[in-house]
Parts: sequence; C-alpha cells; structure tokens
Amino acid sequence: MKICVIGSGYVGLVTGACLANLGSHVTCVDKDPEKIESLSAGHIHFFEPGLEEMVKFNLKNGRISFTSDLDRAAKDADVIFIAVGTPPKRDGSADISSVVRAAGDIAKTMKKLKSRKGLYKIIVNKSTVPVGMGDIVTKILKRSGIPGRSFSVVSNPEFLSEGSAVSDFMNPDRIVIGASDTKAFDAITQLYRSLNAHIIFTDIKTAEMIKYVSNSFLATKISFVNEIANICERIGVDITAVAGAIGLDQRIGKKFLNAGVGYGGSCLPKDVSALVNVAKNAGYRAQLLKGVNEINEKQIDRFAARIRAYFPGAAGKKIAVLGIAFKPGTDDIREAPSIKLMKKLKAMGFAVSCFDPAVKKSHVPGITASEDVYCALKGCDAAAFVTEWPQFKQLNFELARNTMKKPVIFDGRNMLNPGVMREQGFKYFGVGR
Ligand code: UDX
Repeated sequence: MKICVIGSGYVGLVTGACLANLGSHVTCVDKDPEKIESLSAGHIHFFEPGLEEMVKFNLKNGRISFTSDLDRAAKDADVIFIAVGTPPKRDGSADISSVVRAAGDIAKTMKKLKSRKGLYKIIVNKSTVPVGMGDIVTKILKRSGIPGRSFSVVSNPEFLSEGSAVSDFMNPDRIVIGASDTKAFDAITQLYRSLNAHIIFTDIKTAEMIKYVSNSFLATKISFVNEIANICERIGVDITAVAGAIGLDQRIGKKFLNAGVGYGGSCLPKDVSALVNVAKNAGYRAQLLKGVNEINEKQIDRFAARIRAYFPGAAGKKIAVLGIAFKPGTDDIREAPSIKLMKKLKAMGFAVSCFDPAVKKSHVPGITASEDVYCALKGCDAAAFVTEWPQFKQLNFELARNTMKKPVIFDGRNMLNPGVMREQGFKYFGVGR
C-alpha cells in the first residue's frame, strides 16, 4: 500500500519508518523544508534508539521518502495518516488546529481528484485527539464536496513510549483500530498483519477514548503511588517495599508504581488535562483525574521543599541536579520535572549545576549544564537525582563523595540503595522511604 504520513515529528516519523520496514511505501510530509532536507539525508532531529538506522535502511531500499509537498504525497496515497501535534491550550484542552488544517489539506487534494474513477482514500488519525475528532474530519471532507464513498476516517492511536518507540511499534500489546466500516478496518489491519498483534476493532469514538484513558490510567498509577509515598514518609514505611509487594498482585501489576518526583513528557500531563476537559464539556467534573495532575504538580514542590528544609540557609549552597530529560533514553525535556526543580532551587537562592547524558543544555537561564557528571558534582552541597539514567547507578560514588563539598543525596527516583549509599558515607533521602 502507498502511505502518506502528515507530520514528521516523533509519532509521524516512528510510524512512517516502521510501516516502511513492514513493507509499505511511505512518504512522510512536513511543512519545515529544513527538516525534510535533513530527513532525506537520513538525519533524525531527536534521539530515539533504532530509528535513524531504520530510516537510513528504508531510504536506501526506496520504501521511505520525505517531502514538503503534501498535495503530491496525498494524491498518490491509499492511506493518509495524520500525525501532527495537539499541544495543550491554556485551559488544558487539546489544540486541534493542526489536525483541522491537515484534514482541510487532504480535502483540497481530493477535490482535485474528484473525477478519478473509484477514488477512495483512508484517512487515519494517529494524533491524540479529543473524542469526536473523527466526526470533525469527516465533516471537513464532506463540506468540501468529497462524497462519503470516496473516503473512510479511522482512528488508530499510538501507544509508543519515548526511548522504546520502535520496539513498542514492532511488539505492541494491542493495536486499536476505530472505524465505521469493515473495508477501512480490513485495509488498516493489512498494514499490521506481519506483527501478529492483538487487534481490537471499535468505533472511532471508542478508539479515541482508549488512547486518553490508557495515558490517564498510567498517570493515575503514578500519582497514586506518589500519594502513598507521601504518607509512607510520614509514618516511617518504605514505599518501594509497599509498591513491590502490591505490584505482585496481578490485578494491580508491577509497572508504573515507581514513586518519585512525578511524571513529565509530552503525553501524560497533557492527556490527563485533555480528558478532564472532555468530561467538562460533557457536563461531568472529573474529580479523580484533576487530583492526579494536582498531586503530580505538587510532587516536585515537595521535593524542592525537602532540599530547602535540609539547608535552612540556601545562600552559598550549591545543588547538582542529575538528569534533565523527562525520563531516561530520550533527550526530550517537555514537562521535565528537572527544569521545574532547577527553577525552584534557583528562586530559593541555591546555586545550581546540572548534567544529563543526552541533554546538553539546562534550559534554565543562568544555569549551565556540565560536560560530565563529576564536573556537575564538584563543590556541591547535595546531589538531586531527577532522571533514572542507568549510568547514574554505576557512578564511582567514592569519587563523587570526594568531589562534592558535602556528601548528601536527594534521590528523586528512588533509584539508589539507601543502605549502600549510607555505607559509602552519604546522607541519603529518597521519596517515601
Ligand atoms: C507515555 C505512554 O507510556 C505511551 O504509551 C504514550 O503513547 C505516550 O505517553 P512517554 O511519555 O514516552 O509515554 O513516557 P512514560 O514511559 O510513560 O513515562 C512518563 C513519565 O512518567 C516519565 O516522566 C517517567 O519518569 C514517569 N514515571 C513512569 C514515573 O514517575 N513512575 C513510573 O512508575 C513510571
């Protein structure tokens, strides 16, 4: 099948490259000509394990190409994926303007092809969109005079985690296809047939809802465990033991039960807010979901307050923030707890240094990222671990202790062993331990 993917950002590019790898002919479209030029040369503008190799491989065998010419790419395609951003607006609702624009562009292209016999294209929404977006896309096409028999709209949400997106795509827990007709469902199923995945067929709205609910449930697990951690901290119980034990109950599950400074990234915070808004527009106050984001926002404040409480006088004290990316395995800093922490520490009067293996700038004015973790630790009164990069666990802690002014660790991800750290001469503070 010939595929066009509108939007060559994170989701679009992973989708395009993986579908090309599965055998489709893919054209990825982006309005940024510089991005297109660099992608055509096989250079990816962000860090994602395995993606660049996959793009280069498929460029070589001619199964993937990049263009700014949406009209040409869409004209030849059997299936058009919309994979553009839906960033949060001030009120937390999703900004759907890029999806609307993409649908309008598809309509323009299809209008030119109206006389083509048997004209039929499937428009697949990969972007995370408010429930009901499929109907809006359908209306945009119909309003442009495209007859209903010439297209089908499908919702096929992505469940890719940054840092493991390629492997998530190739080994999905499930593939959700929301469609209103079996012709479209069968065609999209064909795209994924070699993955042997569990495929779920729903209507469009249900598929859109599944995406929001998946991310909101993951966020709920994290805020739940963080709330329990805050209680554990006050009553002298270790959250890691509690979470480990409850996670063995298969009804609960082990994953997403790591207490810490909370969730960041481009999806979890925004999708919870968007679902709160979906509920609000439907006349329901989503109390639990609001609480989930509130607990998350406060978690980093609590961590900063903990550091502040240890150092009653911040002046002249320096804190090394270790980890800038919102999670390990990526250089993405969107909604990163580290940046919020650095800003807070700075406002409290601390001097701040920082280091991340993949992010080379602090993104906070007045704070410079160090080249090396030991440079960041030099002369510091405490180290705050904010991203659980595996290499941080392998640090030479003797060297770290000798480099620091005071051997104090605030472990915002509960990634270190408190007993071992204390044996090594550190004062250790985790979250809920
Ligand atoms: C998420 C979803 O997992 C993915 O399915 C969806 O398609 C996009 O959104 P991602 O944003 O890449 O993926 O990151 P994820 O691995 O979910 O982590 C999100 C945040 O939660 C990170 O900041 C992480 O550090 C934090 N987290 C995760 C915790 O604080 N505790 C946990 O137990 C797990």
